Amino acid sequence: MSIAGGHPLSGTVRAQGAKNAALPIMAASLLLSDSTLGVRRVPQLDDMTVMRKLLASLGIKIESRGEELYLTSPSELSWETPERLVRLMRASSLVLGPLLSRCGKAKLPLPGGCAIGSRPIDLHLKGFAKMGADITLEHGAVVATAKELRGCRIYLDFPSVGATENLMMAATLARGETLIENAAREPEITNLAEVLRSMGADIRGEGTGTIHVKGKRELQGSRVEVIPDRIEACTYLLAGIMTGGSVTVCDIIPEHMDALVAKLEEMGLEVLVEGKSVTVPSQKRGRGISLKALPYPGFPTDLQPQMTALLSLADGTSVIQDGVFESRFLHINELQKMGADIRMQGNAVVITGVPFLNGADVVATDLRAGAALVLAGLAAKEETRILNMGHVHRGYENLEEKFRSLGAQVKMLPDEFIPSSGENPSEED
Ligand code: UD1
Repeated sequence: MSIAGGHPLSGTVRAQGAKNAALPIMAASLLLSDSTLGVRRVPQLDDMTVMRKLLASLGIKIESRGEELYLTSPSELSWETPERLVRLMRASSLVLGPLLSRCGKAKLPLPGGCAIGSRPIDLHLKGFAKMGADITLEHGAVVATAKELRGCRIYLDFPSVGATENLMMAATLARGETLIENAAREPEITNLAEVLRSMGADIRGEGTGTIHVKGKRELQGSRVEVIPDRIEACTYLLAGIMTGGSVTVCDIIPEHMDALVAKLEEMGLEVLVEGKSVTVPSQKRGRGISLKALPYPGFPTDLQPQMTALLSLADGTSVIQDGVFESRFLHINELQKMGADIRMQGNAVVITGVPFLNGADVVATDLRAGAALVLAGLAAKEETRILNMGHVHRGYENLEEKFRSLGAQVKMLPDEFIPSSGENPSEED
């Protein structure tokens, strides 16, 4: 993408459906037998395409009607996931729990995803084993088998989002009651629990550290909606601040953005919350702060790189740490190329604010690192060219159109027209 920076962005954008909520909700369709899950507000992203192909390869019939996606699960499913799809996206592991509890068997090549350090799925597997599954590794693929999953008490060493979702889904069809302790509390978990409940599951405690699930013999079809994408919404707000403009994001759930709003206020910035909208009016740059990304309700790790871009233009010094992905700092080298004064000190990033950034040729190494570079490019003097924008398109629907509607001057570069999955997005409709 080519960005002619330095234009204040102003206006309103509507948040897309949350990528990280839509992925597990789509995977939950595997729990059904001969029935349909209708899902509204599924964002149009490459990751959704990968999930659709993955589900289709297992036997799910998928149909789009307007903004709604209908996923119909047959009475028989395949239990082997194709390696070429699983390698494209870490969230592919979310099919493991539902598939195992529904079919008694599931095979998954070890998944891919963003290059943000080692991302094992050991907590998912330990949980399945505790529920009675036999887990083996065969030629780089995990094979899980269980005649019947049994409810039990599972304590997660870390409140992993994916492990909580996978175990919650597996538990809905297990025999007896499952207790997930030190569960993740993200809004995407709550959204999934509401969806599962609407399908007939007996779940309580979502949004707290302890989730109870009483297994049922079967679940029924339902029609549900994906929550708004808090990370996408926050990214647009930061773009407004960094360019000296005023951006409003609408059709969101402002409480999901509390951690960001608190940090912006700490920087001395004014934030207006009204109904389902948040606005950051045009104002002077804020002052530097300290911040540590943590599991929800802490500051989201998925917003840490974009915040680094913002703080590189703040007054004074800031310190950033990431308590979720400790080595999630691949954006720093690229921001330095644009004139940001950033250095690593142990496992912390120390940022000394500079008055302006310069355009440069930079590379998006992963989804949110790429988003940080887009923000820096929008604020910088002159032109920034970002390579590997495919990573960013995995998380931001109609990115160019949305930024253009706010007054940004952005152009796609020819190589960006290739979808990052390298495949025809509508193939399995
Ligand atoms: C989800 C999000 C991702 C976000 C992350 C943390 C989706 C599709 N993706 O990813 O955007 O950055 O939550 O908010 O929802 N861990 C283990 N073993 C495991 C599982 C996780 O050690 O079995 C570690 C990870 O390496 C990481 C931390 O736990 O350091 C958090 O990972 P997790 O919460 O599982 O993230 P994901 O579900 O992969």
